Amino acid sequence: MSPIACRPLAAADADWVRDLVVRRWGAEYLITRGRRHDVAGLEGLVAERDGARVGLALFCMEDGACELVTLDSLVAGIGAGSALVAAVADRARAAGCRRLWLITTNDNLAAQRFYQRRGFRLAALYPDAVTEARRLKPAIPLVGRDGIPLRDEIELEMAL
Ligand SMILES: CC(C)(COP(=O)(O)OP(=O)(O)OC[C@H]1O[C@@H](n2cnc3c(N)ncnc32)[C@H](O)[C@@H]1OP(=O)(O)O)[C@@H](O)C(=O)NCCC(=O)NCCS
Repeated sequence: MSPIACRPLAAADADWVRDLVVRRWGAEYLITRGRRHDVAGLEGLVAERDGARVGLALFCMEDGACELVTLDSLVAGIGAGSALVAAVADRARAAGCRRLWLITTNDNLAAQRFYQRRGFRLAALYPDAVTEARRLKPAIPLVGRDGIPLRDEIELEMAL
């Protein structure tokens, strides 16, 4: 199988990024910890295999920490998600960050498995944070993956 390569976002990716985020996350912005992240303002890495885009990570760095705001794989199970997490960690470390963190939601059991197997630890639970986020982003569904009510944010972190 061809290797996965991760490269920084380019101007030519803008429409693809916006379409992917709207399709996967319901709008051109994301809410984490009550904060709105507009897609256009985030840094990003694109995973490619044989020149085709197979994944996207969007992130932001602040105060010595890097938040992985979204991670999306377009081809499950070929290593795109893992490659992007490793590449974001490398960039954050090189920029002087000491911590990589992210928010996922209570229904996303696959993400909890994925991140913990890749070195993240559970750092905090924010009950009803998604209920609050829904006021800012009505597109957030009431019911999430596996038919689980979508209510809470879970923070995971990794020391860099
Ligand atoms: C979580 C996610 C980014 C993982 O991406 P990925 O490219 O499939 O990741 P990888 O290929 O590196 O690893 C996938 C894991 O799933 C397993 N897997 C294999 N085939 C798979 C398949 N068909 N579907 C799902 N997972 C599969 C892999 O074995 C690996 O598990 P492991 O921990 O046992 O090694 C991806 O599932 C995704 O885009 N999910 C939807 C968006 C999301 O929830 N993002 C995170 C929210 S914060």
